Amino acid sequence: MLTIDEACILYEEADSAHDFSHVLRVLALAEHLAEQECADLSIVRTAALLHDLARAEDMEKGLDADRETDHAIIAAAEARRILSGQSEEIVEAVAHAIEAHRFRNGIEPKTIEAKVLFDADKLDAIGAVGTARAFAYGGRHGQPLWADVSENYVPGGDESHTAHHEFHVKLKNVKDRLYTESGRRIAAQRHQFMCAFFEQMAAEVRGER
Ligand SMILES: [Fe+2]
Repeated sequence: MLTIDEACILYEEADSAHDFSHVLRVLALAEHLAEQECADLSIVRTAALLHDLARAEDMEKGLDADRETDHAIIAAAEARRILSGQSEEIVEAVAHAIEAHRFRNGIEPKTIEAKVLFDADKLDAIGAVGTARAFAYGGRHGQPLWADVSENYVPGGDESHTAHHEFHVKLKNVKDRLYTESGRRIAAQRHQFMCAFFEQMAAEVRGER
């Protein structure tokens, strides 16, 4: 089985929202969910350690990433290469979980191990950690600390994007996209905290609290 040290050296340096500490948090969450969901721990662990291996490759493309630049598909191919020598059943189970962890590529997680990895990765985008990541990303990309979100906001339009926009467009919907019961339980708590945070910050910005 792949160790944390062996996985760490496979990763390129990245910003604080997408660095190896994200992988370690996903690993911890995935182990927790795997236990609750009776998923195969070894497949879940290996997939979690390798899932963002190619993240740097589609960071630039963002929403426009296609199959050739989709980090989940590239990482799955890399995982097949790294794990060659192990049984085909294990390799394919890990590769499927990696391929299906991305929201936008339309590959549905079919196995409980893939569902566990998907949920663990999305849980790291919400709650206290998810909020911190959204602000870290915004700081790195020169976004204002705060801006109100207008009713007709369209991502990519004229209105400047902030962590507050990210919350309204994406983060507040994450809890409804999860696959496992135990993932949804953690998400409910994280969601509540995150909503309270943005509500508090909005009130502080208005000078009300
Ligand atoms: Fe990830």
